[in-house]
Amino acid sequence: MSKTVVLAYSGGLDTSVSIRWLNEKFGYDVVTLTLDLGQKDDFASIEKRAYQAGAVKHYTVDVKHEFVEHYVHPSIKANALYQGKYPLSTALGRPLIAKKLVEVAEYEGAEAVAHGCTGKGNDQVRFDVTVRALNPDLRVIAPVREFNMTRDEELEYAASMGIPIEHKSSVYSIDQNLWGRSIEGGPIEDPYVEPPQEAFEWVRPVEETPDKPVYVEVDFEGGVPIAVDGERMDSVKLIEHLNMVGGLNGVGIVDHLEDRLVGIKSREVYEVPAALLLIEAHRALEKSVLTRWELDFKTDVEKEWAWLVYSGLWVEPLRMDLEGFINATQTRVSGRARLKLFKGSFRVVGVSSENSLYRPALATYSSASSFDQKASVGFVELWGLQSRVANEVLGGNGKSGRSGKKAEQVLG
Ligand code: ARG
Repeated sequence: MSKTVVLAYSGGLDTSVSIRWLNEKFGYDVVTLTLDLGQKDDFASIEKRAYQAGAVKHYTVDVKHEFVEHYVHPSIKANALYQGKYPLSTALGRPLIAKKLVEVAEYEGAEAVAHGCTGKGNDQVRFDVTVRALNPDLRVIAPVREFNMTRDEELEYAASMGIPIEHKSSVYSIDQNLWGRSIEGGPIEDPYVEPPQEAFEWVRPVEETPDKPVYVEVDFEGGVPIAVDGERMDSVKLIEHLNMVGGLNGVGIVDHLEDRLVGIKSREVYEVPAALLLIEAHRALEKSVLTRWELDFKTDVEKEWAWLVYSGLWVEPLRMDLEGFINATQTRVSGRARLKLFKGSFRVVGVSSENSLYRPALATYSSASSFDQKASVGFVELWGLQSRVANEVLGGNGKSGRSGKKAEQVLG
């Protein structure tokens, strides 16, 4: 009986040549698995290509809702942006793909799973760590990493083997799902080169965006977006809708130098309209309903959460522990944020919530104020106490007259 491997198949260059390698060099029957994470691919043609490249069996599974509810929503609650910039779109998809690989491998009685990652990126770590945590008996094979081929060599190999490759896959390395589109390689490997327009598919060039601002209202319940412009929406549709609105208004491009896990600094460009809009809206709402202490502490938790996910440790118990805290804060994060989008930029222009800690009577400068200003005198006295004493010890300008300067010297 021949051995079986289940390969995560995207239809792109790396995974297409992987089918042939697993077959020829490892002697495996290759079962291919393509997951629909909202990447808007032609799944019929991907299936066709899998068989053309040598697969014995192919699965296409729609995991969009599972992706949104179990991966994207926790990341919104965590305001997750790696290095303050990247909404983790690719990073969040990997552990789900790994989980499905394990499920199909167990169902098929396969002895191994495989993926098309190179040895230079983060994705290999995310796949390998997750698979091995979920089923340590499965062998994990990464043919591209093992053969250490360049993209050009792979293209050549594919051509010589008659493996069909889509033309557009030759310039950039793209990874796409509902939460974002990651663009790497080609001309943007030079960090001084502005990404050419052809690299983008979701976000319109600012020059071609509407001349009037657009307002979008997002409702959250328990930290999760549930409606746009007053209309309740399916969790997947809501994100698709915001990707569309953001993209039309030129909003959603992230372009930065990113520190990969393996030590490489890499130019990464993303199209992530819904992610940027939702995280900003969510954060604004949190500012209204959480206390200063909660917000401060949560910022540290968020950074740790994003790092664990970025670095491939989705299965690390600490991630779940952090979510224990995050989820406890989110029960109050319900309400509405209003966003204004215009020519590639956006900001939150309004927020309202039943759980808001904002008290007009305390904040107002008018005579309606209920804030007792006299109480501030004692507060300020004690607030600066230690700093004042320290300045005495330092002997600097802390004590009046210490500098010995005359008024003319100070003013002149
Ligand atoms: N740098 C991003 C990450 O590590 C994007 C990776 C994109 N992957 C790809 N195969 N093009 O999450």
